[in-house]
Amino acid sequence: MEELIYLDNGATSFPKPESVYTYMDSFHRSHGVSPGRSGCDLSIETGNIIETTRKELTALFHGTDSNRLVFTLNSTDALNLAINGIVSPGDHVVTTALEHNAVLRPLHHHWRYNEVEVDHVDFDADGFVHPEDFVALFKPSTRLVVVNHVSNVIGTVQPIEAIGRLCRERGILFMVDASQSAGKISVDIRKSCIDILAFTGHKSLLGPTGIGGLYVGEDVVIRHTRAGGTGVRSAQLHHLEEYPYRLEYGTPNLVGIAGLLAGVRWIGEQGMNALHEHEMALTRLLVDGLEKIDNITLYCQRERVNHIAVVSFNVNGFEAGNVGTLLDGDYGIACRTGLQCAPLVHRKLGTEAQGGTVRFGVGPFNTRQHITTALEAVAEIAATFGR
Ligand SMILES: Cc1ncc(COP(=O)(O)O)c(C=O)c1O
Repeated sequence: MEELIYLDNGATSFPKPESVYTYMDSFHRSHGVSPGRSGCDLSIETGNIIETTRKELTALFHGTDSNRLVFTLNSTDALNLAINGIVSPGDHVVTTALEHNAVLRPLHHHWRYNEVEVDHVDFDADGFVHPEDFVALFKPSTRLVVVNHVSNVIGTVQPIEAIGRLCRERGILFMVDASQSAGKISVDIRKSCIDILAFTGHKSLLGPTGIGGLYVGEDVVIRHTRAGGTGVRSAQLHHLEEYPYRLEYGTPNLVGIAGLLAGVRWIGEQGMNALHEHEMALTRLLVDGLEKIDNITLYCQRERVNHIAVVSFNVNGFEAGNVGTLLDGDYGIACRTGLQCAPLVHRKLGTEAQGGTVRFGVGPFNTRQHITTALEAVAEIAATFGR
């Protein structure tokens, strides 16, 4: 079997930078002990690595207080922690049709069981939501707005700065799901008036799976919905009020945090803009090539402005899943097919009946040759099965 061409970086980045693998290995061997303030020197050093990671991520997101960056399992965990700790019966929440199930499902749960009202702002034909559509839905009970910074289906970057400003002016909490954007493009908590930011470590931050987090702005109250050991003030039965312990429970994923630190540092060394430019150059090559193939439908805007390196398409008349199976089995190309956990996007695109879309997610280690090979493969599949 020839080398796999991995074009599923929207799901998780693969491979990781070599430094992520080597640092995780050396960290685990040298510092794989429980972190603690009153422990041995080694456990204090381990704790320092966690604090360094908090600081570097806080700086990346333009936050002000690294104690308010808490580690979670991934962004699904972070979003659940935040949503469940904020909304109450009678609240109104405005979100978008671009959301991942990591947002849609917790909100649906509160709608179904806890008398929380939820509205979804639609996106336009180019794949963008509009700030004024949020305002039209606001009412006195609107407590929270949740927006996916970048669609994981169509790759469009949403105008969070304008939406955040509108929320701040009205005292409405603004939560951003940065699962796709963190590490690829600027995520600026202050500029975008973000009260709660959720991120995951294993996508564009180039860390391993099992690590993610939340940045919680000053004055934002997230109720405790879990409790447990923090290694600090153990005589106290009430879970700690102060950050980061307020939202952290049990022994953290130390190796995950170490890998995330290595990922963030690698991005810093390469330059986030340079990586983004590389990926967008390949994405333009991909889009230009797909447009020239007969029997292909590409979704959303052509120019790929305000975009990351995620593209969805279909071979007309042929199930998305079948395209993925052929790409994998016959051509050694990994992609993602189906609804990509974002069912409302597909409802709007009208792609449910075709089993969703085929999604290519370009990453830092993809090359022009990968794109050329993928285009040749799609052209053959479209010529044989498309109509
Ligand atoms: C926009 C978005 N939000 C949330 C998630 C969930 O991420 P995780 O599986 O790391 O929790 C994803 C992953 O696909 C995503 O793309």
